[in-house]
Amino acid sequence: MDTSNKITVKDKKFTVSISAEEIQKSVKRVADEINRDYAGKEIFFIGVLNGVFMFASDLMKNIKVPCTISFMKVSSYEGTTSTGKIKNLIGLNADIMDKDVVIIEDIVDTGFTMKSILAQLKAKLPKSIRIASLIFKPDSFREDYNVDYVGFRIPNDFIVGYGLDYDGYGRNLPEIYTIVNE
Ligand code: IMP
Ligand code: MG
Repeated sequence: MDTSNKITVKDKKFTVSISAEEIQKSVKRVADEINRDYAGKEIFFIGVLNGVFMFASDLMKNIKVPCTISFMKVSSYEGTTSTGKIKNLIGLNADIMDKDVVIIEDIVDTGFTMKSILAQLKAKLPKSIRIASLIFKPDSFREDYNVDYVGFRIPNDFIVGYGLDYDGYGRNLPEIYTIVNE
């Protein structure tokens, strides 16, 4: 592996794997799919904080149908491994009954976090509910629901950048970086 352009985030080394241009192209493609599927409808987006802030922002700029957005905040990770526990830090403070909801996430890894969010939101009786995730790790996914819109399918490696963090750091990077295992 060429490790000449490594960066350090906190105490780990990472190398760029998806450029800012590739990200923008993929976000635009996902927005086009959503625009096509929701033509004539209205979308209620629900962003999952913190990691989704960059994706949600760029995605929404490319949405052409009437839409609103609200956020919820959950936490599941400590360091680079899933704790398997979901904490609801900020619940959804909006009525989604009979609305066409699209959940926006930065990454679906094991799928455990999204499963818990889906169950909570389905209990509020939306008309429909779909998932848009910038990143999907198919080899790690252990659930049976569909991730309807995916920006990138990637191998089971830890990544940072474009909103995604390692212990809170790296969210500011405009590219996506993969951890270097030394
Ligand atoms: P899941 O419950 O295993 O699907 O994990 C989902 C959450 O874990 C995401 O919302 C992220 O916050 C975090 N996560 C999973 N994989 C990564 C990664 O490669 N980098 C940074 N955060 C990750
Ligand atoms: Mg997240």
